[in-house]
Amino acid sequence: MSKNILAIETSCDETACALYNARCGIIAERVYSQWKTHAPYGGVVPEMASRDHLQKLLRLIDSLPLTAHPPDAIAYTAGPGLASALLTGATTAQALGMGWGCQVIPVNHLEGHLLSPLLQSPPPSLPYIALLVSGGHTQLYQVIAPNTYALLGETLDDAAGEAFDKSAVLLGLDYPGGKKLEVLAKSGAPTAIRFAPPAQGKFNFSFSGIKTAVRRAVQTNANKADIAASFQQAVADGLAQQVKNALQHSGYKTFCLVGGVAQNQFIAQQLTTLTTAMGVRFVSPHPRHCGDNAAMIAVVAAHKPGQQHSGGFDVFPRWQVATTP
Ligand code: KG4
Ligand code: ZN
Repeated sequence: MSKNILAIETSCDETACALYNARCGIIAERVYSQWKTHAPYGGVVPEMASRDHLQKLLRLIDSLPLTAHPPDAIAYTAGPGLASALLTGATTAQALGMGWGCQVIPVNHLEGHLLSPLLQSPPPSLPYIALLVSGGHTQLYQVIAPNTYALLGETLDDAAGEAFDKSAVLLGLDYPGGKKLEVLAKSGAPTAIRFAPPAQGKFNFSFSGIKTAVRRAVQTNANKADIAASFQQAVADGLAQQVKNALQHSGYKTFCLVGGVAQNQFIAQQLTTLTTAMGVRFVSPHPRHCGDNAAMIAVVAAHKPGQQHSGGFDVFPRWQVATTP
């Protein structure tokens, strides 16, 4: 019988848990988004996030079919993320692991996003190029195998999701603004304003310039839907440019778009067009697995060799994915 894994994710503003079987896949999963808690403040308030995790996490875990599928291992996000939020998941995982006598596996959140395409049935074959676009990260990887990654490039300043959220605020949209900006862009012209695509060098990104350009466009009273559509077009162009370079560099025939911004249908469509023209398969996880979730944490744990014990309540708020030289 293959291993049942209980996975816990509390790195930011989603409280999530999942029960996963290494052979059969997801048995059950829960995600509680805290956006209502943070909305009045226009961004995530770390102490409120950890309080919300504390109130919700055990109840969510309790609602999983644990009796029918007793966990053999508990995986939790140990970083990167907000220290106080990570601690709630870490302490819960360690306490349950001690009580149930099962192994506890610390997992890197970014690795979770990188392997999230493996939640699909059938999963894409490795290796693949993964573009991770979220609220905290924008990175381009060669995913060679589980546990073997090469970082090709990343953002030099803001993350793509952060650029969406900050531009949304400038356009007068409520937090969280990424999705709302995409909706506003539907009624605008993507060619109305020429924003420079946020690409740097061959594989890197920079989003601080486009954010300033959006501010200037707002100050000149340009049409807000046009600003949104032009911003989104420039972001899509910048991402596509570096994805093309990464695919040419690696020769890989599969591309995966992962992280919260992967839910943006315009960007997904533009990258589908690019990859199709290059004879490359485009893969994006189910929208539920693009944003933060615990099933992706379980997948990473299922691929970890041997017994792992974090042996303490350590969390690593700036933990980077271990990459090959
Ligand atoms: O991966 P995720 O759920 O959390 C992090 O680890 O950051 O990503 C959240 C980010 C936010 O910045 C949010 O605005 C952005 O993903 N996002 C979107 C869309 N849906 C979520 N950005 C653009 N268009 C969307 N439809
Ligand atoms: Zn994330």
